[in-house]
Amino acid sequence: MKALVLSGGSGTRLRPFSHSMPKQLMPIANKPVLEYVLENIRATGVHDIGIVTGDRGDQIAAALQDGSRLGVRLTYLPQDAPRGLAHAVITARAFLAEDDFVMYLGDNMLPAGITDAAAGFRAARTAAQVLVHKVSDPRAFGVAETAPDGRVLRLVEKPREPRSDLALIGVYFFTPAVHDAIAAIRPSARGELEITDAIQELVTRGAPVRAVEYDGYWKDTGEVADVLDCNRAVLDGLRAARHPTASVDAASELTGPVDLGPGVRLVRSRVQGPAVIGAGTVLEDSQVAPYTSIGGGCALRRTYLGNSIVLDGATVTGMRGIEGSVIGRGATVSAADHGDRHHRLVIGDHAGVEVAA
Ligand code: TTP
Repeated sequence: MKALVLSGGSGTRLRPFSHSMPKQLMPIANKPVLEYVLENIRATGVHDIGIVTGDRGDQIAAALQDGSRLGVRLTYLPQDAPRGLAHAVITARAFLAEDDFVMYLGDNMLPAGITDAAAGFRAARTAAQVLVHKVSDPRAFGVAETAPDGRVLRLVEKPREPRSDLALIGVYFFTPAVHDAIAAIRPSARGELEITDAIQELVTRGAPVRAVEYDGYWKDTGEVADVLDCNRAVLDGLRAARHPTASVDAASELTGPVDLGPGVRLVRSRVQGPAVIGAGTVLEDSQVAPYTSIGGGCALRRTYLGNSIVLDGATVTGMRGIEGSVIGRGATVSAADHGDRHHRLVIGDHAGVEVAA
């Protein structure tokens, strides 16, 4: 069996971050989403992984290289444009050859892994196996109608009036039968070749398609709120760790699980876990509240920050109440005494700022 990880796309919903990085490299608890994806695939015993990339493929290749650091073998498969998930499979046709494969969307997080689902597919080996998850509002998802035994009766992409609450998760298992089905479909109203349509085509042809309910935590990290939610979920499983080169002065205090990377320096600061702080970051006279991930090379001074993500190289000074925020790479946020009450903002395209009223 092989794996196909989809890491192209346009990522418009994750702007401004996706202006400068592929969303699949967004860090969750200081590790890119794609690394969680590859670890979950490796845990199923699959090592031969194709990665479909878009116009930020060079950054993905720079981060993951040949995959050996993560114990997998990566083949990069550039897609000419984001023409849909089924088009990504066409892009990978030669790589996939006549093998069964798991297709995994590179922005999907399933911290509990997919080993049971993979074992189920290997045992039943239906033409396709989809994972579904109960959601309160299925209208934004591909939705599956199933028989009591899990057989898929019908799939509809983003239905206006959903007939079930089972949303498709971004992990699919296929036999090579899917390639013929993809060849038979046409682009949808939004101009994309939809994998949902290809699976529906298999159902229409009478091929067995099975839905397996996934009841672990699942999140598509397409939007900033999802990234923060996912960060909280992953940090919930954090264990305390302190690199031997991290220093915590006598006036600083750690409570709960806190992970301090190499060269981290805490000076007169309090960190309440779960929280992770990356290599070389310095905190002075600051407080970090639970569910916070701070990347490497950051500096926080006279700052209170909680339930947030700070990316590498950011500097935050004199900010007393940052909550539920994501601060981009190398960004500077500061409260300065200008002698007046104005805010001075230098904000990139499609950024969002919300200040207390
Ligand atoms: P989406 O999140 O559905 O699409 P997108 O990346 O274009 O995002 P947005 O809606 O914010 O503009 O894509 C799911 C995953 O599949 C994601 O990891 C990107 C990847 N993908 C491809 O690799 N090729 C494609 O043609 C498409 C549409 C998505």
